[in-house]
Amino acid sequence: MDSYKLVMKGDRALSGETYVSGGKNTSLAVIPATLLCSDVCIIDNLPDIEDVRVLHRILNKLGAKVEFDTKANRMIIDPRSVNSSLVPFAFSQQMRASYYLMGALLGRFGEAEVGYPGGCDIGSRPIDQHIKGFEALGADITEFGGMMALKGELKGSIINFDMVTVGATINVMLAAVRAKGNTILMNAAREPHVVDLANFLNSMGANIKGAGTDSIRIRGVEKLHGGSYTVIPDQIETGTLMIAVAATRGDVAIRGTIPTHMEALTAKLLEMGVSVSSIDDVIWVRVKRGHRAIRLSTQEYPGFPTDLQQPMSALLTRASGRSEVVENIFDNRFKHLDEMRRMGAKVNISGKTAYIEGVPQLRGAPVTATDLRGGAALVIAGLMAEGITEIYNPGFIARGYENLEAKLNALGGDIHRETAD
Ligand code: UD1
Repeated sequence: MDSYKLVMKGDRALSGETYVSGGKNTSLAVIPATLLCSDVCIIDNLPDIEDVRVLHRILNKLGAKVEFDTKANRMIIDPRSVNSSLVPFAFSQQMRASYYLMGALLGRFGEAEVGYPGGCDIGSRPIDQHIKGFEALGADITEFGGMMALKGELKGSIINFDMVTVGATINVMLAAVRAKGNTILMNAAREPHVVDLANFLNSMGANIKGAGTDSIRIRGVEKLHGGSYTVIPDQIETGTLMIAVAATRGDVAIRGTIPTHMEALTAKLLEMGVSVSSIDDVIWVRVKRGHRAIRLSTQEYPGFPTDLQQPMSALLTRASGRSEVVENIFDNRFKHLDEMRRMGAKVNISGKTAYIEGVPQLRGAPVTATDLRGGAALVIAGLMAEGITEIYNPGFIARGYENLEAKLNALGGDIHRETAD
């Protein structure tokens, strides 16, 4: 249990202007990717979140010189001094994206020993497709005591993933950029952070084409140089803020976004009766009337993202009528709805579908976060509820959102931390 809890007073409309921080998932790929470079990398717009701090500690442990200016959201990484390719289990277990160290270290040294990844418990999360990709590039892989050892002189190959996976697409791309010859990744993930990583690597001298489509072609290069790069805004934070405004029936302009990344969510909010419009990098969300129930089904990008399913299904607990939410990507991603029953939500979960009967009002209650986006969903619930909501284990939220409480409070929310009893 975390030492603190979030205490929220709900039922207050959010209004004003806010902004979006740099992308979590893109940062978690770009930081390990700097290990492939032969000179200093300056990365801007990195969110100050726990997962980025964990990666900072891992890079230090490997011997890199890293400075993270959290006020400027800038990390300066000198990978030249890296002298180890070992990421102990105690480090890798602290986050999911530690598996990107496998691809990055393998690409740089032709060998790596990395502990199994940790991360949110949202169902079974195998890494067989990562292994399949590394093996196709010529790596020998052995597993022992929670560790994976990878070794081999990498050669380009054609890899057809058995399912669309963001993690394996990124990891194999990291290993392939410095492999000899050409690699083709088929059935690749098209998420914005896959494209952002390819843009970063290309700006450092890699030769990657087709990122953003399901076929990515990589011509291996001998060397990547250093340089500066700014990561894209966080698509999931943008969506969480949009849902928070809708949940409180508020009126907020969200700055620093990429509206085209938000089309799946925007379409669903419009269907519910929420007003959403955008100009340049600003998305404006307003609510004039009650929400209508909808059907929702998570898909790979450009479909509705699984990471927004949890905040969105929290919102639907108050939409009039019966909503149906189908979770296609992960098999245990409704735990926040179980918690919300204590707040008065009417939910029936059957396999991968949640049937949600909208209620006119939720009541504040003590609830416990069990994962990152589920924690954000409970914040949405607390914003909507009458009275006081206490969220235990909110540390999950700090892993992936920069200043979420402060951002919501600046818009008129009422959230503070207290020592957990
Ligand atoms: C990434 C994101 C996470 C997001 C998810 C789906 C990061 C750090 N995390 O997670 O926020 O929810 O994409 O958009 O970017 N699978 C296999 N074998 C594999 C790999 C994946 O069976 O080797 C399955 C998974 O169990 C899951 C599906 O493929 O059912 C998609 O997983 P994947 O896209 O790889 O998710 P992550 O990279 O773990």
